[in-house]
Amino acid sequence: MRSVPIGSVRSTIRELVAYPIEHERVPVKLDANELGFDLPSGLAAAVQSALSRIDLRRYPEGHADSLTETVAREWHVAAESVLVGNGSNEMIALTFAAFGGDGADGRAPAVVLPTPSFGVYPIQARTHGFEVVSCPLDERFELDPERVLDATRRHRARLVVLASPNNPTGNAFQRVSIERILDGFDGPVVVDEAYQPFATESWLGRWDRWPNLLVLRTLSKVGLAALRVGFLFADPRLTAELRKAKLPFNLNSMSAAVARVALDAWSDLEAVAQGVIAERRRLQEALSRLGTLEVFPSEANFLLVRVPGDANQLWSRLLERGISVRNFSAKAGLAGCLRITVGRPHENDQLIASLGELLAP
Ligand SMILES: Cc1ncc(COP(=O)(O)O)c(C=O)c1O
Repeated sequence: MRSVPIGSVRSTIRELVAYPIEHERVPVKLDANELGFDLPSGLAAAVQSALSRIDLRRYPEGHADSLTETVAREWHVAAESVLVGNGSNEMIALTFAAFGGDGADGRAPAVVLPTPSFGVYPIQARTHGFEVVSCPLDERFELDPERVLDATRRHRARLVVLASPNNPTGNAFQRVSIERILDGFDGPVVVDEAYQPFATESWLGRWDRWPNLLVLRTLSKVGLAALRVGFLFADPRLTAELRKAKLPFNLNSMSAAVARVALDAWSDLEAVAQGVIAERRRLQEALSRLGTLEVFPSEANFLLVRVPGDANQLWSRLLERGISVRNFSAKAGLAGCLRITVGRPHENDQLIASLGELLAP
C-alpha cells in the first residue's frame, strides 16, 4: 500500500487549525456579520438584467477591469490603485504571498497582528510562512501604537495588519494611533476596512501621504456576502507588483457583473448601512439596559458583549431558542464574550427578550 503523502505538506500548515465556519440553520442567525436588512428595491431586477448578458462560454476579464473602473469612479480613487479579489480574504492571502518568503538571512518574515482580531490573518500568515507576532489590545480593545512599533523593531517585522473597525471587538482604532504606526514603520501597513460602511473614518486614498498604506474593502458586509467580492487599494506602484502574484481570471463573470450593479447603486447600499447603524444603537441601548451585560462600543454591524457567568451555557441556551450568535469566550482577551450581528428589528427584539429571561436573577 502506498502511503498518503501528508508528511510532505509543510509542517506549518499541518499545525494549523482550520478557520471555523459555522453554518447554523436557525431562525435568527446573528453569527456571521452578514446584512440582516433587505437589499435596496430595484437591485434584484438590475442584477437579473446584468446576469442575462453574460456569455458563459467566455473567460471573465483577467483582472476584472470593468468592475475596477466602476469602483474607481464610485470611490474616487485611480483605477491603477485597485485590485479586485474573491472576497477580501483573497486579498489578505495575496498580501501575505507578496510580502512573504524567506529574508536574505533565511529567517521567516514576521507580521505584527494586534489581538484579538480577525481569525483569518494568523492562518493566512502562517500558510505563507510568516512568524505571527501578537500584540495585545488593551482592556478597552484600543491599539497602543508604541507597543506595535516596538514589536516591529524587536522582530524586524515585514508587515503590520490592522482591522479598523476591528472584528470581533467592533471598535475603530483612533486615527492618531494608525497614523503613528504608518509614520513609525517603514514596511507595509494593511488597514482592513471590511466594516467601514458602518463607521465614520476611512483610509481610502491616503497612500498619497503614506505610500506604505494598503486598504482592504469588501462587499460582503453590505448585503453581498454570496458574491465573494473584495478589494485591495494602494499606491499604483505597489498594486502593479501585487497584480503579478494574483491569479488571472480570479473573479468570475457573475460576481463581477453583480458587483458592478451594486456599486452603481452604492448610495442606496449606504442608506441601508445607515439603517443598520440606527438599529445597532437601539440594540446597544436595549442590551445595556438589561444591566447585566458589558456592551462594547461598535462602529461595525455587530456588537461584542461580555456576559456574566458561563458564556458557553448562555450561547447554547440562545441556540436552543433558535438564536445563533458567535461565541468568542475561549479566545485570548475575550473571556465571557459573545459577538452579536445586528439583525432585523424583530430578530433583535427576540434576542433582547431571550437575554432578559436567561440572565434574570
Ligand atoms: C475584518 C475582516 N476582514 C475581512 C473579512 C472577509 O471578508 P470577505 O467576505 O470579503 O472575504 C471579514 C469577514 O468577516 C472580516 O471580519
